[in-house]
Amino acid sequence: MHPETLCVHTPHDPAWPGVNQPAFTASAFRYGPEQEVVYPRYSNTPDMKALAAKLARLEHAPAAWLFSSGMAAIANTLLALVRPGEHILFSEDLYGGTLNLITKDLTRLGIQHSLANATDLQQLEDALRPNTRLLYVETPSNPLLKILDLRRLADWAKERGLMTMVDNTFASPINQNPMLLGFDLVVHSGTKYLGGHSDLMFGVVMGSAERVDTIRQTAINLGANLSGLDTYMIDRSLKTLAVRVKVHNQNARALAGFLLRHPRVKQVHYPGFETHPMHEVARSQMADFGGMLAFELKNPEGADRFLAALRHIAPALSLGGVESLISQPARTSHSLLSQAQRDAMGITLGTMRFSVGLEHPDDLMQDLDQALRQAG
Ligand SMILES: Cc1ncc(COP(=O)(O)O)c(C=O)c1O
Repeated sequence: MHPETLCVHTPHDPAWPGVNQPAFTASAFRYGPEQEVVYPRYSNTPDMKALAAKLARLEHAPAAWLFSSGMAAIANTLLALVRPGEHILFSEDLYGGTLNLITKDLTRLGIQHSLANATDLQQLEDALRPNTRLLYVETPSNPLLKILDLRRLADWAKERGLMTMVDNTFASPINQNPMLLGFDLVVHSGTKYLGGHSDLMFGVVMGSAERVDTIRQTAINLGANLSGLDTYMIDRSLKTLAVRVKVHNQNARALAGFLLRHPRVKQVHYPGFETHPMHEVARSQMADFGGMLAFELKNPEGADRFLAALRHIAPALSLGGVESLISQPARTSHSLLSQAQRDAMGITLGTMRFSVGLEHPDDLMQDLDQALRQAG
């Protein structure tokens, strides 16, 4: 089935005559000699199982496991699959929370890591250790929309016996399916495009049945599961994922072009531009370029004035919702990093991350134009 169809239909018990999956809000379920023990922390209520199956299908994965946030999905997966004394190789452009997890908690627990520029296989080769277990990457990256060649990385890792994991949040399963490009595990902050209305938090990891079962064994102990009501809301949101993402893609394309021509903007980071250094790779592995872009203000000192002047676009953390949001990564998603780490990633006070929503692009352009004039 096509993703549009997969989004709309959730397989559920045919004994239920409703056309949608009902909400299961119980935290206690009767059991008997022939019945599985059902408990929400085990993520095995009928609605949770149906949601996980639907998300797995959207990513062309055999299995998926649900979590209460994207960070819960990332942390549980790494803790389940990598042991103290082992080493993880990360691409250097990562969501700030992921970087913070690695440098603080994983290090404290004895899991080693290296960060390397994953566009350069030699740098990965140099960072490889005999105890390296896993290669973890993010593409398009947060916040500067850097692109990594997933096929090339999967081949490289496979030859070296490493597991591969990618954060596919920015692309969504509508624009990119890393399992089809050879990756072993895909993780999403479902809080973003999958939820899509800035009112839900969740995470999901997809992979082989065997790996997801290993993750399950850790996840049920750490307890970062969904609630029944959130499960219902997520399934409802997913019904429009494919149509939402198509409009996010179109609007981002229009806004990227507008910003590129604007005299108060120094640079626009958008993989759909032919001038983007990895445009050809993005074309070859993505169905479209997504709803995210970043831009640099010509006058970084005017950043506060710019954000305060926005009328419709909210200066807010998070992304992937129906409403347009702009954030300043240096003060939000990447504020926990050191100045040196931000400098190395190319994040300045004038860097603006733009999650382009579903409003009419003309209204967004007008709002940006008047706010950019205030920035000076
Ligand atoms: C790319 C990416 N991965 C993971 C996360 C973490 O997700 P959550 O906030 O749902 O825990 C985020 C959050 O912004 C993100 O942007």
